[in-house]
Amino acid sequence: MAGAALVGYNYKRARMIAFSWILLIMGIVSTAAGQQGCWDCHGDRVDRVTFESSVHQDLACTVCHRDVQSIPHEQPPMRLTAQACAGCHPDQVQQYQQSVHGQARAQGIGEAARCADCHSAHAIFSKTDPRSSVFVRNLPQTCGRCHENSGLSERFGLAAHRYSTYWESYHGLSVKYGNLIAAKCSSCHGSHLILAASDPKSSIHPSNLWQTCGQCHPTASANLLKGKVHVEAKLSVSPEVYAVHVFYLVFLGVFATLFVLHVSLDIIRWVRRRKKRHAQ
Ligand code: HEC
Ligand code: HEC
Ligand code: HEC
Ligand code: HEC
Ligand code: HEC
Ligand code: HEC
Ligand code: HEC
Repeated sequence: MAGAALVGYNYKRARMIAFSWILLIMGIVSTAAGQQGCWDCHGDRVDRVTFESSVHQDLACTVCHRDVQSIPHEQPPMRLTAQACAGCHPDQVQQYQQSVHGQARAQGIGEAARCADCHSAHAIFSKTDPRSSVFVRNLPQTCGRCHENSGLSERFGLAAHRYSTYWESYHGLSVKYGNLIAAKCSSCHGSHLILAASDPKSSIHPSNLWQTCGQCHPTASANLLKGKVHVEAKLSVSPEVYAVHVFYLVFLGVFATLFVLHVSLDIIRWVRRRKKRHAQ
């Protein structure tokens, strides 16, 4: 009886010790090999040099990819949602969830921007770093990928050509020529709480423009606020701008034709005169 108990005891104890050792070894191996293990297989899809100079350089991969519990992992990990960022950036996540993009995502609209669409997954830098996708010069391209003419405009009934009309605007031209304090997309739309112009809470709702533009134009007149920011030279969108556009095209066309005619006649006259002189 005692022998059996002893054997049972030893068996349990041995199993516990063995289990502890296995856990300990697994712990050491996974900590030491942890990040390295991920790089062994994912170095081709995640750029190591970029990640290791990014704002998240000190984070272990599994801080975000929480469901990767072992190396190698059996299941393909889940696609990350804003929840993966919520622990460290709660304000941005909360605002994002109330925005058009967050709301659309929550309704299953996969085309709406998520954190990684604006920030990238592993190449995240401070917003003041020229390498950042939200740096003043790069942001128009980041938003423009979806808001220029990607087909989303037709599908969601959104205003198109936001990228090109921005670069043609005062602010776009100003940024182009090096004035980095001129307005970028997020100066007027916000970065996380982006809402449609028709929403009274939106920074671009007509009743809030004095405040939005007023951040940088404290003495903004009603006239300044009336000026459209994204102006498309289309008859259906803005007839005045369309008229000016057409006028310029016609004007330039006629001007160029007259110029070419003038130069040609000049050359003909010169050739004739030379011939005449040679003949003499
Ligand atoms: C032995 C190789 C191997 C190791 C080690 C490994 N993975 Fe993977 N991982 C894969 C394979 C294979 C896939 C599925 C194919 C693919 O998407 O590349 C995958 C997929 C993924 C994906 C999803 C990719 C997608 O397309 O959405 C993530 C995220 C990921 N791994 C993270 C990690 C992390 C974090 C580690 C380290 C803790 C790690 N992996 C270690 C082989 C590996
Ligand atoms: C700050 C959070 C964060 C950290 C840290 C992080 N990732 Fe990611 N990772 C993401 C996001 C966001 C995505 C894109 C969304 C998705 O597909 O889940 C992603 C996607 C991936 C993918 C799919 C391929 C791709 O580029 O879309 C792989 C593979 C991957 N990560 C591996 C890693 C490895 C390896 C590390 C550590 C060196 C790491 N991740 C660290 C957030 C992170
Ligand atoms: C529609 C594009 C967009 C999406 C989606 C987005 N961001 Fe941003 N984010 C920006 C822009 C633009 C800035 C820079 C704002 C500036 O320069 O003032 C920024 C800045 C930040 C900053 C720096 C601090 C700050 O608020 O200025 C953090 C942190 C951040 N975002 C996290 C997130 C997280 C987490 C998510 C997902 C929940 C997210 N972002 C989704 C565009 C976006
Ligand atoms: C474990 C905490 C942690 C998690 C999780 C995390 N971050 Fe960060 N993040 C940081 C730290 C720390 C910094 C650098 C310090 C700072 O600027 O706040 C940073 C900086 C940033 C910045 C640059 C802020 C700036 O100054 O412009 C962005 C953008 C950002 N994170 C986005 C994300 C996104 C998107 C996710 C989710 C995929 C995420 N982060 C997940 C800790 C985290
Ligand atoms: C990955 C694609 C994508 C990116 C990147 C993106 N958006 Fe969007 N955006 C959408 C989609 C899709 C909708 C429509 C959502 C809906 O109506 O359900 C939308 C809606 C909007 C709306 C509301 C328009 C309306 O008429 O309702 C504004 C304003 C907007 N986005 C501004 C921005 C700004 C500013 C940026 C960059 C800081 C940006 N978006 C980045 C896809 C994107
Ligand atoms: C100087 C402020 C300002 C800047 C900079 C700006 N916008 Fe706008 N945006 C507005 C205003 C005001 C409206 C609403 C009236 C209009 O359509 O002109 C608007 C309208 C929009 C709409 C349609 C929203 C709706 O609900 O109809 C989208 C999408 C948009 N902008 C995206 C962008 C993108 C992308 C950028 C950067 C490339 C950008 N905006 C830069 C002020 C700005
Ligand atoms: C982040 C700051 C910022 C915001 C927000 C901003 N602007 Fe500007 N804006 C500037 C700067 C800087 C210039 C000067 C550009 C130059 O001359 O190089 C400018 C120039 C202009 C001009 C042409 C010159 C002038 O002063 O008459 C107009 C018109 C204008 N902005 C309208 C607007 C409107 C309308 C809004 C709001 C929808 C707005 N701006 C929001 C920074 C801003």
